[in-house]
Amino acid sequence: MIYFESVQFKNFLSTGDAWTKIDLDASKSTLIVGENGAGKSTMLDAITFALYGKPFRKINKPQLINSINQKGALVELVLRIGSDRFLIRRGIKPNVFEVLKNGTLVNQDAAARDYQAYLDDTVVKMSFKSFGQVVVLGSSTFVPFMQLSAAHRREVIEDLLDIQIFTTMNTLLKQKVSDNKEDIYDSKRSIELSISKIDSAISHNESIRKLKETEVYKLKAKLGDQISYITAEQQSLDTLMEQSCALAETVSDKLVVAGKIQAHREMDNSLSSTQRNHSKNIEFFTDHDNCPTCKQGIDETFRDDTIGKSNTKVTAIDDARSKLAKSLSKYLDRQREISDVESQILNINLEMGTHRANIKLSMDLCKQIKRELEGAQKGVESIDTADINRLQDEINHLNKVQDELFKDRETFNVVGAVLKDGGVKTSMIRRYIPVMNTLINQYLAAMELFVQFELDDGFNETIKSRHRDVFSYGSFSEGEKAKIDIALMLTWRAVSKLRNSISTNLLIMDEVFDGSMDEISVENLQNILQELTGNGGLNMFIISHKEHQVDRFDRIVEFSKVKNFSQMAVRES
Ligand SMILES: Nc1ncnc2c1ncn2[C@@H]1O[C@H](COP(=O)(O)OP(=O)(O)OP(=O)(O)O)[C@@H](O)[C@H]1O
Ligand SMILES: [Mg+2]
Repeated sequence: MIYFESVQFKNFLSTGDAWTKIDLDASKSTLIVGENGAGKSTMLDAITFALYGKPFRKINKPQLINSINQKGALVELVLRIGSDRFLIRRGIKPNVFEVLKNGTLVNQDAAARDYQAYLDDTVVKMSFKSFGQVVVLGSSTFVPFMQLSAAHRREVIEDLLDIQIFTTMNTLLKQKVSDNKEDIYDSKRSIELSISKIDSAISHNESIRKLKETEVYKLKAKLGDQISYITAEQQSLDTLMEQSCALAETVSDKLVVAGKIQAHREMDNSLSSTQRNHSKNIEFFTDHDNCPTCKQGIDETFRDDTIGKSNTKVTAIDDARSKLAKSLSKYLDRQREISDVESQILNINLEMGTHRANIKLSMDLCKQIKRELEGAQKGVESIDTADINRLQDEINHLNKVQDELFKDRETFNVVGAVLKDGGVKTSMIRRYIPVMNTLINQYLAAMELFVQFELDDGFNETIKSRHRDVFSYGSFSEGEKAKIDIALMLTWRAVSKLRNSISTNLLIMDEVFDGSMDEISVENLQNILQELTGNGGLNMFIISHKEHQVDRFDRIVEFSKVKNFSQMAVRES
């Protein structure tokens, strides 16, 4: 609840350089009187200027400065909220905007707009429009509730029911929804980006794999070629070996033949020596008749016999040697044959050596190819997948983030449904509408306007009157309209008290009693107001040009113009 204590102003509209101070909580009911233009309604502008930085009447800020002094317009409003006392000081020429909480200036570092926001949110807590509906009635610039647009009616009722918080939340939610939408968009983009990165990493790896696999394939083929070559070489080697063995077999008599040749030669030598001895014998016996040693004569028969025998021997040895020579010749032929075969075997062995060398070379090559093959195969297995794994992790993380964002979106949708018009606010409003209607109809009845007034949850009214058709606000007379305005205002005040929302001690009725209401209605209204003030906590100000029923008021404040400046005088009754 805002409890207004006092307002003072100077160089403000028709007020001069001296403070005009009005105690707002000094008496339960105050009648403010004075002629037209005396400065009675000025207090309204002073209060709204202090609270909202703008006058109640439809003029702009510079027009508030007193036109004679042209500077130093200043307003000070003192109010209480709970146990805190606030002084709001505002001025034009020079510009002043200060809020003092319990005598201490509230930090003014903030920008003027934020300072106003502080005042709105922590002190005043009701909009300019709601102030107009709850504190003020009448006055030239007062717009009756029934003439407000549906949106403005909603704004006032939300203030009354203290449910603007849902509107504020909805505004914040809209920002969150839009942030969430952007975040979802961003995360989708990031996921797409990571997926395309993974795709290109995979295809890059695939091409590397293909290259390495081709290398492996080629090396395997090379190895296969070498193995076939070695097999072929080995086969050739085996064939040559067989040939060599077969040939060696054919010359197995080599030693025997050599032995035979040796034996033949030795035999021939011995025969030759024997033959030579026989020939010498023949020569001796032929040339000698006597023995050279004993000089005795050699017997003819003996000599002839000996020569005959020796000749026979020589002839026999010739014969034997010729046979021996034939036989030797055969063995020598065989030895040549053997030698031919051996040279063939040698050639074969040389060829085998070449094949062996080929096999050795090829085996070495195979070892080298195997090493290369192992390397290439390892290469295929160890293609770097770290990047892909990292990207996959990133995508998993992004998906989780996106899931959270989707969950948030769902939550926002649910909260949005609750917060939007038709949601929780409407259900709150629906709960209070019957209360409001009851109160309105009670106040109307107290002012002897017997109609059935009904606001629906879209804040549209239907007013039914006995024996009459359905009326709208415009259908009523000015006096009846005034009664409806009063009934609504009193209802708003009662509801704010119920909700402990924008409840205040201040009630200002400007020219309500001077206008269209007849004597009885004014009487009735005063009765109602008296009852209200009687309950306490209400300070009522009635602004009027007429001093009627003065005795009903605790205090009379009189405004007048003296030398073009408004002056105020207080009369306690
Ligand atoms: N900037 C200004 N400087 C001086 N006087 C001004 C300025 N602006 C308006 N005024 C005058 O100040 C007076 C405003 O007084 P106010 O509206 O409070 O009168 P009131 O007593 O409520 O009169 P009414 O009974 O006609 O409503 C008017 O006479 C108006 O012409
Ligand atoms: Mg006035």
